[in-house]
Formats: sequence, C-alpha cells, structure tokens
Amino acid sequence: IASDMKGLKSGKLRLAVVTTAKYFTPRLLGMFCQKYPNIDVALKVTNRERVLERLTNNQDDLYILGQVPDAVDAVAEVFLDNPLVVMASADHPLSCEKNISIERICDELFIMREPGSGTRMATERFFSEQNKKLKVRMELGSNEAIKQAIVGRLGIAVLSRHTLTLDAPMGQLAILDVDGFPIERDWYFAYPSGKQLSIVAQTFLEYLRQASDYLDDLSCRHAISGHCPLLKDS
Ligand code: PGA
Repeated sequence: IASDMKGLKSGKLRLAVVTTAKYFTPRLLGMFCQKYPNIDVALKVTNRERVLERLTNNQDDLYILGQVPDAVDAVAEVFLDNPLVVMASADHPLSCEKNISIERICDELFIMREPGSGTRMATERFFSEQNKKLKVRMELGSNEAIKQAIVGRLGIAVLSRHTLTLDAPMGQLAILDVDGFPIERDWYFAYPSGKQLSIVAQTFLEYLRQASDYLDDLSCRHAISGHCPLLKDS
C-alpha cells in the first residue's frame, strides 16, 4: 500500500527559492515530479531578502536559501554545499595564477549583485572581515547578467559555483585561485516554526534528505577550476 500511495500523492507544492538556487532546484524537481507525477509545483525565484519576507509571512510551503538569520523563527536544515568562488573571464591575466592574495584581488574592479542578495551579503562580510574595501564598478540584479559582464571584461565577481552548472564547458569563465576562497556557504531548506507541513511538502522534504547522491552531482565539485590556455598541457 505504501508504494501505491507514492504514485497517488497529489496536490500542490509551493516553493520559494533564492535566485542562485534556480541552478539546481528545477533539476531536483524534475526527479521529484517523475516520482510523483500527480504533484504540481509552483516555484517562486527571488533574492534572499524577498525569500525571507515570504518565509516570515508564511506565503509558501517550503523555502530554499542560505542560512536563516536567528531573528527569523524557522526550522532549517542543510542539504547541500554552496561554495562562492571568484570568477573572471578565461583570458584574464589572473586566470593562470596560483594562490592569488586578497590584496591583489582588491585591485580589480568588481561586479556585485543587488542589495538584498545573499551572495552579496556573504561577499561583503568576507571582505570586511579582511578589512578590505572592494572597488565596485557595477551592480547587477542577476547572476546571468554578471557572468555576461565578466565575459565582457567589465570586472570580476564572487558568485556561487552553482551558477556554472550548465555552461561551464563553454570555457569563457575561469575560477580564480584566491586565498581564503571558496567562501563555504550552504543551502538550507526552511519553513516557519510550528507550521503544519502538507503531505506534499513532507514528501518533498523526505526526498531532499534522501537524494544525497544526486545532490552530490548538483554541487558541481567537478566543474572547471580555472581555464588557462597557457597551462593546458602542463
Ligand atoms: P541570492 O542568495 O541568490 O539572493 O544571492 C544566495 C545565497 O544566499 O547564497
């Protein structure tokens, strides 16, 4: 009966995830929806600040975001790593260097995510802990636009390595080998404390907890770690 129930589970799953989680959430959902074809999913993608607002207002079933602040009364569990790396265009002079110092990286012009972004928050915290100020050339409200700007040589940026999942092989971006990087961040799923989760939401949580092998793939540990034409054959 239990296995019959699986196929029969139906209803709607309302998820709200931070911008950067859009690189793996749809694929996670793909597997989930294959397993539970009668469950419909509505996915809201917005930045950290907005997701936290939605969580506080209890607008969705579940949330995927970085660490939930203590001030927000929520149940939260880590399910995947989220390394933040320094990205430059593949032909940037630093793409060939090893152990680049933080001082050196601060000479470069940076492209930043918009205020309210978790990526931006973690980046600002990292550099302020090092007592460094970044030269910000530009603010853009999208990881995709930032990658385009990097390729267009407008600057470098700190972004989640997850943003490289599908187009890493195109070889236009490099991950720089900077001291202290990657910034180790994690993905959490969360919901307001005391919320009574629907059967569908509980099913998705169980699925997330068990999908660890698949999640390992999604963390793209094997993505490019620098693309340096000069070092290619060494
Ligand atoms: P963001 O959040 O997409 O709002 O930058 C990502 C994160 O919190 O790591």
